[in-house]
Amino acid sequence: MTTTYADRSTDTTASARSPLFSVLIGLTTLAVLLQGLWAGIFLQHDGQRDNASSWIDVHARGADIGILLAAAATVAAFVKLRARKDLWGGAAVLTALLVAESYIGGLIRDASKDTLTVVHVPLAMAIMGLAVWLPVRTRHTT
Ligand code: HEM
Repeated sequence: MTTTYADRSTDTTASARSPLFSVLIGLTTLAVLLQGLWAGIFLQHDGQRDNASSWIDVHARGADIGILLAAAATVAAFVKLRARKDLWGGAAVLTALLVAESYIGGLIRDASKDTLTVVHVPLAMAIMGLAVWLPVRTRHTT
């Protein structure tokens, strides 16, 4: 169906953009991508964890930053783009998944639950997918 100029002029809410949300969700996506880089560095010794490596701590702090950015993006979308449930809902799910991912990571490191790595890595990929989908989705109107 073709959207006429008249349709668009009355559709300001659904087609609204928020530069703040775009910046926050873009930085969240970057933080998630970097998590893979930090993990690659501390796993580079034939897949063995280099426990002396501070890169695991960088990975942990990166997770904190990612959670804060995703939470801030959720609030920004809820306040500025209330009609875009796909964006604030998606950002809220991303925040929750990042919290779950960090909790699992903490169990692997602090409680030696190494078998949870088989959950941690695929969940990271699912998170990456959502973290890419959200910025792409901002360019669509509902
Ligand atoms: C979505 C992004 C990710 C988040 C938010 C995340 C978060 C975390 C956190 C918080 C920890 C615990 C660190 C600590 O307690 O000091 C951890 C551990 C770990 N992460 Fe991730 N992670 C992510 C992606 C990945 C990826 C892509 C990989 C590997 C391909 C990975 C592999 C690991 C491993 C192996 C550990 C355990 C390290 C150890 O043995 O002590 N993570 N992660």
